[in-house]
Amino acid sequence: MKLIGPFSQIITLAGIPLKGAVKDEQLQIIENGGVLIENKIIKKAGDFNSLKNEFQNADIELIEGNNVLLPGFVDSHTHICFGGNRSKDFAMRLNGKTYLEIAESGGGIWSTVTNTRKESKENLVKSTLEKANISLQKGITTTEIKSGYGLSIEDEIKMLEAINEVKSISKADIISTFLGAHMKPRDFEGTNSEYLELLVNEIFPVLKEKNLAKRVDIFTEKSAFSVEESRIYLQKAKEQGFEITIHADQFTPGGSLLSVEFGALSADHLEFSGEEEIKFLAKSDVVATALPGASIGLGMQYTPARKLLDAGVCLSIASDWNPGSAPMGDLVTQASILATFEKLSMAEILSGITFRAAKALNLSDRGILETGKKADFVSFPTNDFRDIIYYQGQMKPNSVWKNGKNIG
Ligand code: NIG
Ligand code: FE
Repeated sequence: MKLIGPFSQIITLAGIPLKGAVKDEQLQIIENGGVLIENKIIKKAGDFNSLKNEFQNADIELIEGNNVLLPGFVDSHTHICFGGNRSKDFAMRLNGKTYLEIAESGGGIWSTVTNTRKESKENLVKSTLEKANISLQKGITTTEIKSGYGLSIEDEIKMLEAINEVKSISKADIISTFLGAHMKPRDFEGTNSEYLELLVNEIFPVLKEKNLAKRVDIFTEKSAFSVEESRIYLQKAKEQGFEITIHADQFTPGGSLLSVEFGALSADHLEFSGEEEIKFLAKSDVVATALPGASIGLGMQYTPARKLLDAGVCLSIASDWNPGSAPMGDLVTQASILATFEKLSMAEILSGITFRAAKALNLSDRGILETGKKADFVSFPTNDFRDIIYYQGQMKPNSVWKNGKNIG
């Protein structure tokens, strides 16, 4: 048993509902707090001195100075396994070309596919682990990583094996997602539907056999897969017991309605979701994931996070870290920026990068600092939690704990 503290404030995020708008007054703040952990799990959070008296045989990890403790952050949507870089695309966009125009002229996702195919599995493990570690230092103790830059049977499997290896080495928890349906590869001679059929027949069985991913994602978009094509694919994924998540409504609406139809865990992007889509999502348990990093990277509108929350939706905020649309890869910075444009409360932002993001990954064991949850924490050098969002990502954590262990 170990008691960690005292902290100027512990922001527990306990008692906040899974869905809908949240006021800052709803945040539970424990002043002069401590957290007691046993076997990687939180035994109790409360007043430091009371815990010290109550559990006199606990080892004490003494914290000096002013610090705020939060649950470890969850990044529920990334593409950090890739080769190459796309600064050339970025420069083209600055010169007025659109994301879709660049894709159509041979840049975009396909150029990353070409570069990722050239990389050995070992190199992919190395570069992906580096990025997961950068995130971990920023307090992200759980990171989702998608495939989707291989787009052939062997290269998708290579990516997923690399991600699985990162999972086994990284101190963070890594969740893998199969995104073979990112786009139809240019070297596939056949229709979109035939490509999706190939994924179902040739890759789904391997995902299970080798335990590579239990989540399936698809880019539902005019430039990738239509709603009708996506529906057939998702039906098969669902029948085979995969969890579903969708890249939805990024440029045109459609995907979010499918996410509701299939009871997906999450619908991500949603920059072009309108009133109808929001109403639909609000009637479901689908988590809406805002990806402000992609809006910043592409210079386009943000996900209507305020409207989604007001309609009663569960909002996750994720980095979408990828070489094309979201190269920054800094979740707290992006969430803080989204907040200023969308008028999100601090409580909504913090919920969106902790337990609500965990919900998008079907994880209910983390993201809240309360009895029974995983002992994953992050602390910042301040006595007022509002500073973390106020400094828009420039205030860095000074300690991160994973499974109760201080990893620096
Ligand atoms: O989430 N929208 C599709 N997929 C990624 C971008 C991938 C890329 O451009 O390489 C996204 O933004
Ligand atoms: Fe994405």
